[in-house]
Amino acid sequence: MLTTPIHPLWLRLTHWLNAFAALIMMLSGWRIYDASPVFPQIVIPPSITLGGWLGGALQWHFAAMWLLFFNGITYLAFNLLSGRFRAKFFPLSPRAVIHDLFAALRGKLSHADLRQYNAVQKLAYLVVVIDLIVLVLSGLAIWKSVQFPVLRELMGGYDRARIVHFCAMAVMAAFVVVHVAMVALVPRSLLTMLRGR
Ligand code: HEM
Repeated sequence: MLTTPIHPLWLRLTHWLNAFAALIMMLSGWRIYDASPVFPQIVIPPSITLGGWLGGALQWHFAAMWLLFFNGITYLAFNLLSGRFRAKFFPLSPRAVIHDLFAALRGKLSHADLRQYNAVQKLAYLVVVIDLIVLVLSGLAIWKSVQFPVLRELMGGYDRARIVHFCAMAVMAAFVVVHVAMVALVPRSLLTMLRGR
């Protein structure tokens, strides 16, 4: 008998397309950053960047940007219109986050029901979704700073928009490291994100 999948097909597709686009954006972004570092003391080793040189990296960055953008809109639209967003991520309270965080650190957090995210997961996923929106908006402010003056000024000007973009990238990179480590600890969750059940 067919049961409702834990993760619907649209979610699995948008998740993996997002992971692919985010990876391309990050690796090519590092090469673009190296051409003119915002923080002179931070230089990304060229061997872990994508694009070969500034022009090549920009091509990758702009190509993956459209995938990230339209895929992100699709994820948000399906989530909000279906009511899944509210059901999956709320209610969420600081008390629940602290409780689940300590339970996780003591190895006492249950993963029996993969349909439900714990409070730490809910917070982490909400933070990364907001972070991706900030990444796109700050990227737009840098790319089209003349055409979107209000956005540019909201970021504190062109130079600050670059800092916002870099910091949002760092938050995403930190999320991915912890996220992949957590998935490795609970491999069943990877199967559900691949097969739905
Ligand atoms: C190879 C890298 C990745 C792997 C293996 C992976 C794996 C997973 C898995 C297994 C889940 C489901 C967790 C569960 O049911 O307990 C999940 C959910 C999620 N992942 Fe990833 N992920 C990866 C990359 C990313 C990236 C790059 C992002 C964003 C920048 C991301 C954002 C999310 C979000 C927001 C959710 C929750 C989706 C929702 O339920 O609406 N993931 N991931």
